[in-house]
Amino acid sequence: MTHPIIDELNQRHTVKHYDATRKVSKQNLEVLCEALRLSPSSINSQPWKFIVIESEDAKQRFHDTFENKFQFNQKHAKTASHTILFAYNPRYTREDYAKVVDQQIADGRMKKEDREQGFGAYAFVDLNTAENGVNAAWTKAQTYLALGNAMHTLARLGIDSTPMEGVDKDLIARYFGKELDGYVCEVALAIGYHDEQQDYNAQLPKSRLPKDDIITVV
Ligand SMILES: Cc1cc2nc3c(=O)[nH]c(=O)nc-3n(C[C@H](O)[C@H](O)[C@H](O)COP(=O)(O)O)c2cc1C
Repeated sequence: MTHPIIDELNQRHTVKHYDATRKVSKQNLEVLCEALRLSPSSINSQPWKFIVIESEDAKQRFHDTFENKFQFNQKHAKTASHTILFAYNPRYTREDYAKVVDQQIADGRMKKEDREQGFGAYAFVDLNTAENGVNAAWTKAQTYLALGNAMHTLARLGIDSTPMEGVDKDLIARYFGKELDGYVCEVALAIGYHDEQQDYNAQLPKSRLPKDDIITVV
């Protein structure tokens, strides 16, 4: 199939080695951040925080989170241009949703007098919340929508990336406790430009299951 979108998706790949000399421009980073912000989520809950690792200090801290496990991803901490930590709120509450409702009023999607009705959709959060107030499975799922959106945006910008579930959520919580403020990061996205010589994944052909195995048109 030929289509510009399909070409971009075929060209993107998971980088295994970055060219540390190449940086993502400020302008492209802004596009990425806006794409993250525009990511859709269930009931527009936006139960997330995106921590952009840019400074040498933050890169060192991220590097140090690989002390115990997933060392195969560690080199990206300092060679990628930036890394985005995707973090979710493990206990999303009505108070959190109130911010969304008020934003919808401010953005002109809802009238002030309809504010109470705006909370109708919150029933969906209740459905996904355990008795102890934890709804982490549901909020975590939302962050993956932003992850996919980010990877496609980057593909369109011609920027390389590495999604990483191989990250240590406990050490990330320790080293980025201030930034996370109780949110949890279990997936990160390194971004930058691959090393032409050492990124073995760049030359491999794409491999996916056949269309008929995964798509059923009824
Ligand atoms: C949620 C998620 C987590 C992943 N975690 C890692 C990881 O920790 N390290 C890594 O090198 N690749 C990781 N990958 C990359 C996948 O292995 C890769 O996307 C898949 O093999 C398809 O290859 P492609 O991305 O090059 O098309 C992850 C991908 C996704 C979507």
